[in-house]
Amino acid sequence: MTVTVHPAAALAGTPALPADKSVSHRAALFAALADGESEIVGFSDAADPHSTLACLRGLGVEIEEREDVLGPDGVPSLFVQGRGLDGLRAPASALDCGNSGTTMRLLAGLLAGRPFESTLVGDASLTPRPMGRIARPLGQMGARIDMTDGHAPLVVRGGSLSGITYRLPVASAQVKSAVLLAGLSASGTTTVVEPVATRDHTERMLELDVMEVGGERHVSVPGGHAVRARQWVVPRDVSAAAFFLVAGSIAEMATIQLNGVGLNPTRSGVLDVLRAMGADIRISNERDRGGEPLGDLRVEAPGGLVGVEIGGAIVPNLIDEIPVLAVAAACAEGRTVIRDAEELRVKETDRIEATADVLRAMGADVEERPDGLVIEGGRPLKGAEVDARHDHRIAMAAAVAALVADGPTTIHGAEAAAISFPAFWDALGSVAAGSVEEPA
Ligand code: S3P
Repeated sequence: MTVTVHPAAALAGTPALPADKSVSHRAALFAALADGESEIVGFSDAADPHSTLACLRGLGVEIEEREDVLGPDGVPSLFVQGRGLDGLRAPASALDCGNSGTTMRLLAGLLAGRPFESTLVGDASLTPRPMGRIARPLGQMGARIDMTDGHAPLVVRGGSLSGITYRLPVASAQVKSAVLLAGLSASGTTTVVEPVATRDHTERMLELDVMEVGGERHVSVPGGHAVRARQWVVPRDVSAAAFFLVAGSIAEMATIQLNGVGLNPTRSGVLDVLRAMGADIRISNERDRGGEPLGDLRVEAPGGLVGVEIGGAIVPNLIDEIPVLAVAAACAEGRTVIRDAEELRVKETDRIEATADVLRAMGADVEERPDGLVIEGGRPLKGAEVDARHDHRIAMAAAVAALVADGPTTIHGAEAAAISFPAFWDALGSVAAGSVEEPA
């Protein structure tokens, strides 16, 4: 799908945001492992969490969307009949994880301790992504995972596992979560040591023990740890909100309201960076839902941003937001340096290269580094023709940049937005009237 985005001087409105993708995946997986029925309020309608549901159904888990039970956002609740760890059954065919790295990595952890063989496959973007990072620790625990050159398809031959202590060599919440999920069926205790903190939804949602030892986080799960059947409430996705936070911060005039946004500190680095750049973002109505903090955000046009340095421990807290933060940087006065973000090279596409390509096509001054980008901000952006490379966040970041370009921008592969934000083009059109031209 090709979408054309026209520039818009004034943005206003309250766009509907999708449910948090990371929390949706986990709520579905944990509900499947619980004994009994769980309700998930506000589950994501995006493609990736639905890949997780399809895989769970392939493992014999019954999941029903109830149109008659609506959450506060009007989203039907999902009811999951948990079978307990021992109730999962061998899949009759390969489990298709689609585009979703979270599905593949967390599921591999969960299946590592099951007494059957499963094959996990993915699409053309997921297949080349690195899976050795989960196969190594799961192998140390006693599972056998066969890969093709370190990639999917994965054949997981589950077995009896022993708890390990594993220090994460890459800052990855997916690797952490895979090891912890395997730890549920291991003998003894499994501990993941994080030199740099990553998103902590798994430990919050499973109520695991977390200790700080010498500046590192130790997250532990005892084998046999019971997962409770319960109600989960999914916040709106801060990673989706980020597109509107940047759009409002680079526009000439803007007032955008974003309600019910997850504000977990391990995810909200984008707020800190945008504020350091001079953005005008206010948070109100802060509350807690099922262990996850959330709040309502209001962004107004600040009348100019300044460049910043982004690196170190904050990077995992905003890793998915870097493409759109790069758009903010291109519109800011002065230089922005993004470093320590080499993980972006192994996302849905190489996001360092893809972001640089889009911004350069639009006239920005961008230098690619192995672990990030250097952006000399302030050059006016021009309308261009760009390719989203089948990557949802590249498609949406390009659309945000297009709002401040001097003419229309054509975005090829715009359908990728549905991976995390199916209603993105409508939501963008709702704050920038007449700007979004979708195919009839
Ligand atoms: C995620 C973790 C991050 C993030 C991804 C979702 C998760 O990936 O980029 O979008 O839900 O655990 P890594 O674990 O590869 O850093």
